[in-house]
Amino acid sequence: MSVAEFYAEMKAKLYDVVPDFELQIKAELAYEIVRLKRERNAVILGHNYMEPALFHSIPDYTGDSLALSRKAAQTDKDIIVFCGVRFMAETAKILNPRKTVLLPAERAGCSLAESIAVEDVRELKSRFPGVPVVTYVNTYANVKAESDICCTSSNAVAVIESLGTETVIMLPDEYLARNVAQETGKHIVFPTRTPGPASERDAGLDYQIVGWHGKCEVHEKFTVEDIADVRAQFPDVVILSHPECSPEVVAASDFSGSTSAMIKYIEQTCARRYLLLTECAMGDNVAAANPQKEMLRLCRVRCLHMNEITMEDTLNALKYTRYVVEVPEEIRARAALAVKRMIAIG
Ligand code: 13P
Ligand code: SF4
Repeated sequence: MSVAEFYAEMKAKLYDVVPDFELQIKAELAYEIVRLKRERNAVILGHNYMEPALFHSIPDYTGDSLALSRKAAQTDKDIIVFCGVRFMAETAKILNPRKTVLLPAERAGCSLAESIAVEDVRELKSRFPGVPVVTYVNTYANVKAESDICCTSSNAVAVIESLGTETVIMLPDEYLARNVAQETGKHIVFPTRTPGPASERDAGLDYQIVGWHGKCEVHEKFTVEDIADVRAQFPDVVILSHPECSPEVVAASDFSGSTSAMIKYIEQTCARRYLLLTECAMGDNVAAANPQKEMLRLCRVRCLHMNEITMEDTLNALKYTRYVVEVPEEIRARAALAVKRMIAIG
């Protein structure tokens, strides 16, 4: 495909979302990225939060963290370029130890992944012996390696039910765990860090889910007041929230689900106006794919980590083979068990 053909294809999808002069620059970048991608036998995976010109041009696959983990597990390419954040690229590496995995921006982290350390997981395991550990994929490899199984927001309930146990430790997202507890009718506790023997500290705790106080720095900012304000101005609006939002926000929404579940919901319903309580770029991507629907956006709330990933950085990733994601083999092998158990569940 020539630059002109890239431009025509991107314009057909993005005419209402990206100004024309910017599209011309992005089409040149897309042409160069795709040329290099083929030359280097690479695959590009793009999370639903990528900015619209990137999202609608260069990825071979787009999706939520579960779908992209699946694609990463299946690829036969030599290089995986992950247009997402570090924990996602690490998951790709965990599943593909012999492939080169590139993260275009070195600093693309995640507040949830930062919220828990491997020592915290070990401490919880010693306090609640025999209780299986379910870890959200938004964690680093060493935390996954201490876990029995991973989950994403799209399969958390199925993963917990698959364990067949009365109790689970669910880390590290407090709100996701609270939302799952709500959905499954389980009682959740957040044990405090108190000194003294484990048996004494936790005796008498009535729990079925043991949670952790991690938060997504983006989704924790949405409030019930935001929802009330938007509904007052646009009474017909359909509001969708990610399960990383608080249970109060989820309860005040019309639908809650993973990024891909929200996209599907909008595609399959016929309301005129929607509000997504998640990273703002996804509103642009959904607007481009559904031009007859109106997307309201609360763009004061952004994921700075996801927004680190640009088309320029993606081009440089392929040009200079950077930034290579590595996971020590001893950690990777254990983390792979937890990730593969999740993928097997669906
Ligand atoms: P999804 O699994 O829904 O794509 O969510 C990932 C994420 O980081 C949301 O903030
Ligand atoms: Fe992490 Fe939140 Fe950004 Fe998702 S939106 S990558 S959970 S900080």
